Amino acid sequence: MQNTDDSYQIRSERTRWFMESRFGMFIHWGLYSVPGRGEWVRNRENIPDEDYSPYFKEFDPVRYDPREWARTAKAAGIKYAVMTAKHHEGFCLFDSQYTDYKSTNTKAGKDLIAGFVEAFRAEGIRIGLYYSLIDWNHPDYPHYGDKTHPEREMEKNRDRKHDFPRYVEYLHNQVRELLTNYGKIDIMWFDFSYDVMTGEKWEADRLVKTARSLQPDIIIDDRLIANGLPGRVLEAEPLPYAGDFFSPEQIIPSEAVTDRLGRAVPWESCVTLNNHWGYGSKDLRYTGAENIVKMLVNTTSKNGNLLINIGPNAKGEFPEEVLPSLEKTGKWLKKNGESVFGCGKADFPKPEWGRYTQRGNKLYAHVYERGPAQLRFDGLMGKVKNARLLRDGSELDLVKWRVDYPDDAFVDLVFTDLPDETDTVIEFELTKGEQQ
Ligand code: GLC
Repeated sequence: MQNTDDSYQIRSERTRWFMESRFGMFIHWGLYSVPGRGEWVRNRENIPDEDYSPYFKEFDPVRYDPREWARTAKAAGIKYAVMTAKHHEGFCLFDSQYTDYKSTNTKAGKDLIAGFVEAFRAEGIRIGLYYSLIDWNHPDYPHYGDKTHPEREMEKNRDRKHDFPRYVEYLHNQVRELLTNYGKIDIMWFDFSYDVMTGEKWEADRLVKTARSLQPDIIIDDRLIANGLPGRVLEAEPLPYAGDFFSPEQIIPSEAVTDRLGRAVPWESCVTLNNHWGYGSKDLRYTGAENIVKMLVNTTSKNGNLLINIGPNAKGEFPEEVLPSLEKTGKWLKKNGESVFGCGKADFPKPEWGRYTQRGNKLYAHVYERGPAQLRFDGLMGKVKNARLLRDGSELDLVKWRVDYPDDAFVDLVFTDLPDETDTVIEFELTKGEQQ
């Protein structure tokens, strides 16, 4: 049995590339793209099996072009992507030998995960697979009275028997397939645990051991244990299946995340860019690049990652309405990516006008508000050698010592408007002694 320090160390090493990557893409795709009301539609509208099965017959993503997706992701600056191999509806986007409810048996006629893996890998993007622990299609997943199940209130299910261990075997077998048949998988994203459906109910210890035996370097999320239960990733002594990173959803923590012992914990905020994970046909207003960049800088400044979600439509396309935001984010990152990738929390507190990020002796000031002509950097006098505008490498004037504020550094803003309205990045070289 390893002691906590050893497992902490091992986890830190395992997650290094992940925490340097900072920016990932989530892809929620399944039969639910046909109704187009999000991936929980079957639950929310209590849709019985017979009314949901037409979507399986209909599903025909004729415009699915994973290479196009991968190019779009790459151009947006994405470093890793996590796609739903199976969401709660139970439909498998991969060619599993343990079910007929899979994409190869639809009009799509192919393994959609295989295409994703190949195309994204070819662009140098790391690969993650999302697998739902919950399954609304499997006969042995609890129906009646289960909090999540679409048929939870149907009388016909009241006396229904389930062989739950048989479902657990199915889950284990499918995870084994996913981690065997697609080459190197970088991330396994299990979702999610609740009430008594948690931990050993999934045989989580064995599941994680299997995953690590098939993919020794794999990074696993923290959702094999329900919220609020002991042994999770932020505890002083996480359980062996607590996972490698904390996964807040639709929020960004207000501080860098630490465990109960105050040690840094890898984390990733997952966020939608509209108000759905799965495709929402009436929800096609997406947040802009300005907000995506700011979320990314925010997570980076707290040592965390940002996973932005796309919900492709039933034809197999990324909604065209989201593309401008992705493209503009990519353009910004092309010029300013050095202030994000490989960067983390700075040695200086959050400034008034924006954020700091830092990598070694490079300190990046993300300026959101111009304010008056001299921009002030509290406590930086004597600690910075020079200042450059990151987007073009041009020199900025550091104001010589101000007798009224002897501890602070100032940059003379020679431009009336900030050159980049999204986020103008000033790169400082720190003098020795300030290096991380
Ligand atoms: C939730 C939802 C799910 C979504 C996930 C993303 O757990 O059940 O639909 O996939 O969050 O974090």
